[in-house]
Amino acid sequence: MKNYQIESLPDYFKQYKKSIKNPKKFWDKIADDNFVWYQKWEKVVKYDMREAKIEWFINAKLNMTKNCIDRHLLNRSNKNAIIFEPNDPNEAVQYITYQELHERVCKFANVLRDQGIQKGDRVCIYLPMVPELAISMLACARIGAIHSVVFAGFSSSAIAARINDCESKMVITSNGSFRGDKTINLKALVDEALEKTHTVEKVLLVKRTDIEVPVKEGRDQWIAPLLEKASADCVPEIMDAEDPLFILYTSGSTGKPKGMLHTTAGYMVYTAYTFKNVFNYQENDIFWCTADIGWITGHSYILYGPLLNGATTVIFEGVPSYPQPDRFWEVIDKHKVTQFYTAPTAIRALAKEDTKWVDEHDLSSLKVIGSVGEPINDEAWHWYNDHVGRKKCPIVDTWWQTETGGILISPIPFVTPTKPTYATLPLPGIQPVLLNDKRIEIIGNQTTGNLCIRYPWPGIARSIWGDHQRYIETYFSAYPGKYFTGDGALRDEVGYYRITGRVDDVIIVSGHNLGTAPIEDSINEHPAVAESAIVGYPHDIKGNALYGFVMLKDIGESRDKDNLRKEINQIITEQIGPIAKLDKIQFVSGLPKTRSGKIMRRILRKIAEGAFDQFGDTSTLLNPEVVEEIKEGKL
Ligand code: WT7
Repeated sequence: MKNYQIESLPDYFKQYKKSIKNPKKFWDKIADDNFVWYQKWEKVVKYDMREAKIEWFINAKLNMTKNCIDRHLLNRSNKNAIIFEPNDPNEAVQYITYQELHERVCKFANVLRDQGIQKGDRVCIYLPMVPELAISMLACARIGAIHSVVFAGFSSSAIAARINDCESKMVITSNGSFRGDKTINLKALVDEALEKTHTVEKVLLVKRTDIEVPVKEGRDQWIAPLLEKASADCVPEIMDAEDPLFILYTSGSTGKPKGMLHTTAGYMVYTAYTFKNVFNYQENDIFWCTADIGWITGHSYILYGPLLNGATTVIFEGVPSYPQPDRFWEVIDKHKVTQFYTAPTAIRALAKEDTKWVDEHDLSSLKVIGSVGEPINDEAWHWYNDHVGRKKCPIVDTWWQTETGGILISPIPFVTPTKPTYATLPLPGIQPVLLNDKRIEIIGNQTTGNLCIRYPWPGIARSIWGDHQRYIETYFSAYPGKYFTGDGALRDEVGYYRITGRVDDVIIVSGHNLGTAPIEDSINEHPAVAESAIVGYPHDIKGNALYGFVMLKDIGESRDKDNLRKEINQIITEQIGPIAKLDKIQFVSGLPKTRSGKIMRRILRKIAEGAFDQFGDTSTLLNPEVVEEIKEGKL
């Protein structure tokens, strides 16, 4: 990124003002100065916020991997692009230079083409955090295929739903994965998923463990021998600015997961620009984001943002507690990490350990530390600041979403004075507004409201795969003409933003975005269950945990309730994955409902929290007796 480093607070305000006054000019220059294009755009942006039609860099032509890899071969060919830190600290680290990355991506891309994958085809990637995950995504981008990465903790039903939704033609997976002291057979989950799908023609297998897996003739192939034979020369596909780059599924408050569609040029420009500024990236820094690439954080800030800047990015396969609770700190010291980016849930878990685990490591390489995924509470913020940043590294509390493609609100390190629990100020190009429930914009500071964004930015998702109407309804109809984030926010006296949490039925558990509806749907499939409602309640480590109120068909049912609880969590694990398991299950004889039949979750949330005297207005409640009973049942 040439000359786009924000240098000081006045410089931030200057750039910010420019970006709002003339967004076209602002993004035009950034795009022009920092990327390689086959053809430049005719127009910077075209948008209709009511129809949710947004296009950036109209008619420009490019290839993402030319920008992530090829152009760095001139000056950075021997620089490490990826440092792979395996789950087991005794296994050798892999250093992948830009030169080697180029070769491996080209070979992989040629294999994809040989296997019949063409521009526009969807490829489902279900891999652990190994270099092949990054390489296969880049290989898709090289040939214009659309990757749909499914987090390797998801169940076979979740894989099947995602394959079916975007009609993936291929799955790339591995025989197994390592996580701490566990080994998981990923191929078995894919095999199960494929029984419920009809579009997958080929499965490519990466060998990661010694698990023996069945290889289905005509469908499955080990990738290694194919790569060996493949040419290292691969002409990139020429892509239009608005050609899809990837689909990534995120939970909604209702219905099936939403396949958020991100396109090529806008996403590229936005992730590169935000990476540079939010992390104060300098040549030769070693950047480590601990997220899984299966989430948007990994897409944007393990893979695309860093590689677009020619950076060195760490891919970590393991977990923070293995083999000991100092693994993060050990890895920072081992690779001399300069920027460390993690989630509040991990910080809280590690803060529970004896401080000797962190204090005894040399963390002096660190310059900037970041947080993402959920609000960071005051205690966690201070622990992070004291023990990890050692009071000399600014904390960037970065607020954004799968839908936004990149960070929207965050301090700029060494520029924006930080304030615990505040994501602080919008990045240039981002125009946040707060609205009340009457859709009226709240002007001025020291106020709260529903957080919307007024003007499009290059990284915003363009649609929900196969369902543009749902995209309009979910994000652009609550506050016509604006993008609605689903979050509530507070704006303090100087204009700093603090995100207060979801205002819809999405619950963030350990930084994972979970919709209540899909969990309820799966519980309701249990033959004994009539109806259920899930709410979140505060949890020390996870931020929120899940509380299920479950109504049985036969109220006097004399079954073993503990066993029933296990069965319910078993169904959730099978249909969604272990991350959606309920921490508490209370059996009830009815759920509080409004006269129009809507479950009053607000009351259930208060019950789950134990705040029995804060139910607010209950005048529209149809069955107050149920509330009394649930309260008593909890006591
Ligand atoms: C939701 C989006 C963005 C990558 C990870 C999550 C919450 C995210 C913060 C933050 C408070 C945050 C919001 C948002 N969130 N970052 N710094 N402070 N809340 O992506 O799964 O799409 O979830 O995560 O509620 O809407 P996601």
